[in-house]
Amino acid sequence: MSAAEETLVVVKPDGVRRGLVGEIIGRFEKKGFVVRELRMQTFSKAQAEKFYSVHSGKPFFGELVAFISSGPVVGAVLSGRDAVATVRRMVGATKSWEAAAGTIRGDFGLGYTDNIIHASDSAESFAHERAAFFGNPGG
Ligand code: CMP
Repeated sequence: MSAAEETLVVVKPDGVRRGLVGEIIGRFEKKGFVVRELRMQTFSKAQAEKFYSVHSGKPFFGELVAFISSGPVVGAVLSGRDAVATVRRMVGATKSWEAAAGTIRGDFGLGYTDNIIHASDSAESFAHERAAFFGNPGG
């Protein structure tokens, strides 16, 4: 197997409320990804703002921060081949109503802010989001 890469997924409050955690994490496990870290927590507003800081100043930022901190979320670090791109293909388009059938958003949702799951879009985003979600190791 080629070198494994890591990425982060976060099942959003709508996905947790709807009981989709097992289904979603199970899809990644069945695909072959290994769960390296796993945690349920409820974001504070400050933690949500840090997690999504790349979107700070955008018109939807306030709504996004309010939503992601509205209830428990489940974050998982996944490891496997080409994890960032492969996991995002499995997640599907950001606008859930446009997401292809067979993707997580395509199969389970119609929302935009409430689009069930977040996945890191680059190695740099992963590093930032992992620290915001799990804290800095040793820091
Ligand atoms: P996510 O993959 O978590 O990354 C940022 C989130 O912001 C995105 O999914 C959507 O839930 C949300 N988002 C992005 N653009 C918009 C928008 N124009 N309006 C509302 N929400 C958005």
